[in-house]
Amino acid sequence: MTANEVALQLDHVTVRVRDGDESLTILDGVDLDARRGEMVTVTGRSGSGKSTLLAVAGLLRQPTSGDVIIDGQRASSLTARQRSRVRRDHVAFVHQFAQLFPSLRAIEQLELVAHIRGELDDRARRRARELLGELGLGDHLDRLPAQLSGGERQRVAIARALMAHPSVVLADEPTSALDPARARQVMEALADETRRREVATIVVIHDPTHLELADRNLELMDGRLHMAQLERA
Ligand SMILES: Nc1ncnc2c1ncn2[C@@H]1O[C@H](COP(=O)(O)OP(=O)(O)O)[C@@H](O)[C@H]1O
Ligand SMILES: [Mg+2]
Repeated sequence: MTANEVALQLDHVTVRVRDGDESLTILDGVDLDARRGEMVTVTGRSGSGKSTLLAVAGLLRQPTSGDVIIDGQRASSLTARQRSRVRRDHVAFVHQFAQLFPSLRAIEQLELVAHIRGELDDRARRRARELLGELGLGDHLDRLPAQLSGGERQRVAIARALMAHPSVVLADEPTSALDPARARQVMEALADETRRREVATIVVIHDPTHLELADRNLELMDGRLHMAQLERA
């Protein structure tokens, strides 16, 4: 794995659903490439299909047509079991609320990921400490979620997402429950980790702030992705 490699590719993804007698097109031939080390924001009004886009990108939902390619593996050519494995090994999700286990300390939230994968050894423990340190939580390793602020919890969730060495991070409105200052810290943390850990990050944000922290800004409108702002030089 190298920086700039395309980790996630959406190839003409269309999602249509039945809406009574009619068919509703949520995504209409969406193309998107995201490279390692690159953070892409996707904005769009409520109901524009942002969460659907992430669900398809993360192989949680199959498109009506089109394809998703993750680290060179074409979802349409995989069995359901193989798709689950690609999701588990290559993709990590960050949600609007951190969804931490209330009874686990910050460090344990990360160690659990390694434990589930049968990989909880000294190296994994070191990685957990490093990740939390990078996210500014080095002094909070032993805190329970209730002893952390909303922004800190969200940063634990980002650290946890990175624990399994994903190449793609999909974040669905990770800042929308936070005040502006904490929202900015979370966006900065995502941008920093995207580059440091060379992941391809797609961040859906409802409120189009802090867009300058990303490499590219896209907007979802009428089922299609548009450039929301020129690419940064
Ligand atoms: N399985 C489904 N069946 C019917 N409608 C759906 C389904 N999934 C999503 N939708 C509709 O698709 C649109 C996009 O939803 P969503 O992706 O959640 O938008 P956003 O995250 O931008 O708010 C909404 O109008 C939603 O009601
Ligand atoms: Mg949504």
